[in-house]
Amino acid sequence: MAVASARQRKGIGSALVGAGLEQCTALGFGAVVVLGHPTYSPRFGFIPSTRWNIHCEYEAPPEAFMAIELQKGYLAGRAGTIRYHPAFAEV
Ligand SMILES: CC(C)(COP(=O)(O)OP(=O)(O)OC[C@H]1O[C@@H](n2cnc3c(N)ncnc32)[C@H](O)[C@@H]1OP(=O)(O)O)[C@@H](O)C(=O)NCCC(=O)NCCS
Repeated sequence: MAVASARQRKGIGSALVGAGLEQCTALGFGAVVVLGHPTYSPRFGFIPSTRWNIHCEYEAPPEAFMAIELQKGYLAGRAGTIRYHPAFAEV
């Protein structure tokens, strides 16, 4: 996710994250992960995924890989490595 620098700090990023999480909830997803900024993503409820022993397949600081449960308890007992769609490897 990115917001053009001239348009940042107007709530666009927050609106995009909020709408994305709403859509994921409506579609029935149980959780969402993000490789994000450790001081930005938590404002939406994301917490480091190490709490569930869930890790990212990419090299990343552990505090930057976060998850949020959309269904309470969904991640309990789901330890493992998150695999991204191959398209992400081309970015
Ligand atoms: C991160 C980003 C998408 C936020 O978009 P935005 O439209 O400016 O976000 P909002 O207006 O909803 O929120 C702005 C708040 O986020 C904070 N913020 C922005 N980037 C941040 C960062 N890298 N780390 C921590 N906080 C950040 C701002 O300081 C501001 O805080 P405030 O509400 O206390 O003033 C935007 O800065 C961006 O495009 N950055 C470059 C790309 C990027 O890093 N994407 C994220 C990859 S996960």
